[in-house]
Amino acid sequence: MKSTGEILVIGGGIISLAIALELKRQGASVTIVCRDFTEAATHAAAGMLAPQAERIPPSPLLDLCLRSRALYANWTQKLEELTGLETGYWACGILAPAYQENLALKADNLESVWLDRATIHQSQPGLGSDVIGGWWFPEDAQVDNRLLAKALWVAVQELGVEIQTGVTVEKIVQNGDRVTHLQTSAGTWQADHYILATGAWSQTLLPIPVTPKKGQMLSVQMLPESMPLQTVLYGSDSYLVPRQDGRIIIGATSEDVGFTRGNTPLGIQRLLSAAIRLYPALQNDPIQEFWWGFRPATPDELPILGASPYRNLTLATGHYRNGILLAPITGVTIANLVLHQKFDPLLDAFHWSRFNP
Ligand code: GLY
Repeated sequence: MKSTGEILVIGGGIISLAIALELKRQGASVTIVCRDFTEAATHAAAGMLAPQAERIPPSPLLDLCLRSRALYANWTQKLEELTGLETGYWACGILAPAYQENLALKADNLESVWLDRATIHQSQPGLGSDVIGGWWFPEDAQVDNRLLAKALWVAVQELGVEIQTGVTVEKIVQNGDRVTHLQTSAGTWQADHYILATGAWSQTLLPIPVTPKKGQMLSVQMLPESMPLQTVLYGSDSYLVPRQDGRIIIGATSEDVGFTRGNTPLGIQRLLSAAIRLYPALQNDPIQEFWWGFRPATPDELPILGASPYRNLTLATGHYRNGILLAPITGVTIANLVLHQKFDPLLDAFHWSRFNP
């Protein structure tokens, strides 16, 4: 039996890393165990920090997302200072062009501006001619999720978190209301407390309703002579996320196909036609990469955060479309819960028992 000390975090994505970072910062002894760091949805994401562009209605989820967005600038700055690595955080705002008048409706009191046809085409040249206007969300932002994941990985290691990759957790073994140990591909592992942050794969370990929702993506490299895109474009059928190195990330499909791997002609064709309609200026830019990932979806599209049926197991999964955005707030709230039993009332809406009343 391998004893990993105080807290064992299961999962190799941004949620697991953000929790481990905060636990370690507060002095805990932490081990991360994961099967394959590169499989996490973290690497497939576009990195939009977009509670407003995603049109999340006023709700506990919107509150959680807004709180996390507010933490981002400082959180990434500290990570960059600690590691000397870039995270690509960019407070670039998000423009949501519309093709129809009814998309001009607005449901919250957050900062946003409706741009009419003339204004939107002037503020972002290169948009499709059938864009009739659009919302400008100046507080939405983006981060380069792959750079961020690397910085987090380095940061937790520098702080002394032990990371064990290539280890599959096969079973969470329980006795009464406690987890006694993990059965893994590398033997049995034991800790005082366990945190489950295994995203789309969570249901292989616990009967909680988290299922994969596949997203296909691609990127192009803007040519030097192309119209520069300086803000995220969030269209009705695709989004375009420009990076500071000249790439544009194009996303994403949303498919119920289980863990079926790979890009498909239909998925990529839909993304390309939506992207060219939205921003024809990119149509001659060279394609750079295709990829896909699996969002962890729950039936009500809300994450599962906090207590579990077991006293020494905490849940942090099901972040669906907002895993990158919700990483800082998940790290802080889960660490405070595990280390100090400090329950943030905002977590109430995300309790696992809503699926097992
Ligand atoms: N957050 C964007 C997506 O999941 O496609």
